[in-house]
Order: sequence, then structure tokens, then C-alpha cells
Amino acid sequence: MPSTVPHTPLVDSFGRTVTNVRISVTDRCNFRCRYCMPEEGTQWLDRHEILSYEEIARLVRILAQHGVRKVRLTGGEPLMRKDLHQLVRLLVSIPGIEDCALTTNGFFLADQAAALKASGLHRVNVSLDSLDPETFMAMTRRDHYVEVWKGIEAAHAAGLRPIKINAVLVRGVNEHEIPRFARLARERGFIPRFIEFMPIGMGDGWSRDKVVAGREVVAAMEASTGVRLLPVERAGGQPADRFVFEDGIGEIGFINSVSEPFCGNCDRVRITSDGKFRTCLFSLQETDLRAMLRSGQSDDTIAAAIRAAVAQKEAGHLINDPAFVRPERTMSQIGG
Ligand code: 5AD
Ligand code: SF4
Repeated sequence: MPSTVPHTPLVDSFGRTVTNVRISVTDRCNFRCRYCMPEEGTQWLDRHEILSYEEIARLVRILAQHGVRKVRLTGGEPLMRKDLHQLVRLLVSIPGIEDCALTTNGFFLADQAAALKASGLHRVNVSLDSLDPETFMAMTRRDHYVEVWKGIEAAHAAGLRPIKINAVLVRGVNEHEIPRFARLARERGFIPRFIEFMPIGMGDGWSRDKVVAGREVVAAMEASTGVRLLPVERAGGQPADRFVFEDGIGEIGFINSVSEPFCGNCDRVRITSDGKFRTCLFSLQETDLRAMLRSGQSDDTIAAAIRAAVAQKEAGHLINDPAFVRPERTMSQIGG
């Protein structure tokens, strides 16, 4: 059905344009990373509460008509959703969508990488906080280090490039592994991406002194390799600070959400697995798109609700402000 809403881009009140959506396809996860979830998991949503692939595709179609070009599928663990490659196939065929990526814990990738690639998935980020099986288990509460590596190798073999390795450093737990991550970048060509530990999810795990700032990682990597890291100019809207080793061998990236908030050029919005639209990871407000989808609202009405939410997008998160209020949802419920 052609839309009658003028297809103007989604611009917020600070002049930032939304071009990027992160979609959580499930709140479930087979890991229990300590910084994210309690041992017993969270109260999983019921199946009917979760958006169907058709519903997700409809929202992405509407977003694409208003300038969104990139989609990232997250979770929970997105590959726990049955036949995720079918959703990928739907999304990559939507006019305007130029890039479809996935953030996964890697466990199911060995089985699914080839089908995902064949369905048109462009890129994958695998979360791997430790390159040591014991520390991996301490952090994830699961003994699945070997399976994750099989998944990474399968993604590589399937031709998904580049492969980024998301790592959260927690002081006193895994920051001694920085030199190993440098070797991973230089010897294997995978791109480690250090995400600063954020105050979201598990109530008490976070404290400022456990955050390992990106700056510190750069210094430690230069010290361990003896090679300088040079900053790469940041493309508009991209939260990651990228660096390449001066000798041209290896790249790393940082999401320095705590030490260097990048909210000023944020180009993204989020949809939770139960169809709530969020303009920020740390938003305290959500727009219920699922209710609109399921009550027969038109594309135009949904687009108008999205536009209204974007107009209210917050200037930035308040992690560093004494007035900071943690969202009630965990990362697995929002989509990282
Ligand atoms: N701080 C930083 N990163 C987190 N992630 C989950 N919880 C947190 C947190 N509290 C990461 C996961 C995954 C990505 C989606 O978000 O490790 O790589
Ligand atoms: Fe944007 Fe919110 Fe992320 Fe900041 S924390 S970059 S405002 S989405």
C-alpha cells in the first residue's frame, strides 16, 4: 500500500538524522553473562508477545521509507529465534536497506552461518569477552568457548566480512587480555571492538572503577605490540572509534559510551523484541508499535508515531550525571 506521508527523513530536535535501526528479535539467551543477566535468566516473554518476522519487516519497510538504511539484528541471542535467516531474507529485499548485520554470542553460528550468508546477511559481530576458556566461563557462566570459536570460524568460512569481536572489559576480570586481543587483530584479521562496561542490566554489577576506558586499551596495545595505533576518521553517525596499527596490520574499534559519549552524532533507534520503539539504549520512554501493528493501524499512522518519538529523542544519555536513572530493562531485553 503506497504511503501518503511525505517521505522526509526522521530528524530529531537536535538535527540528528535516523539512518540505523537495531532490532532485538528475542529476549532469550542461552548464555548468562554476569554483566547482563542473572543466573536464572529474566522472565522471558511469551511467544505471542514477540513481533513476528512479518511485523518486523513491515516496521523496517516503514523506517526505510523514511531514510533508514541499516539494520542490525540483536537479542538476547538472535540465533535462538527459529530460522532467523528467513527474516534476513525479508529485510535485505526491502528497498532502501543497504546493510543488514547481526550481533550474536556465536554459539549457533557454526550451524547457521552459511544459511545467513546465503540469505543476504552482510556482517556479523560476535560477542567474545575473553580469549581464555576459564575466564570466558567465569564471565558467561557457560562452558562454550570452543563452540563460539567454531561459530567464528564458520562465519569466516561463509565469507561474512568483516568479523568484529565485541569485548566488554571488566577491571579485575579480563583487562589483562588486551595483548591477546591485539594478537587476534594482527594475526587473524578479526576486528576487536571494545564496548565500555555500561550501567545497564544487572543491578549491582556495575561501578565506575570497573570500566576500562578505551584510551587505556590503546595504550596497553601499543605497549604490548610496540606498534602505534592511528585513529581512523569517523564516518558520520558511527559510534565506534576506529584505529589501525601503524604498520597496516590489524584494526580495532571502541564504543566508549561511558568515557567519551558519542550521543551528539547518534543516528540510531531501537525496537525491542516486544515491539517497543526506543530512541536510546538508556531511554526511559518507549512507544508501543506492537499495539499499533496489531490494532490495524495504517503505515502512515505508525510512521507518524515513529516521527513523534524521534522528535523527542534525548540529547544524550546521562550515565555520567548524578541524576542518571537506569532503565528497568536489561540489555537482553532492549537489544544491545
Ligand atoms: N555494558 C557493555 N556492554 C554490554 N553488553 C551487554 N551488556 C553490557 C553492558 N552492561 C554487550 C554484549 C554484546 C553487546 C550487544 O552488548 O557483550 O556484545
Ligand atoms: Fe544515542 Fe542514546 Fe546511544 Fe547516546 S546512548 S549514542 S543518545 S542511543
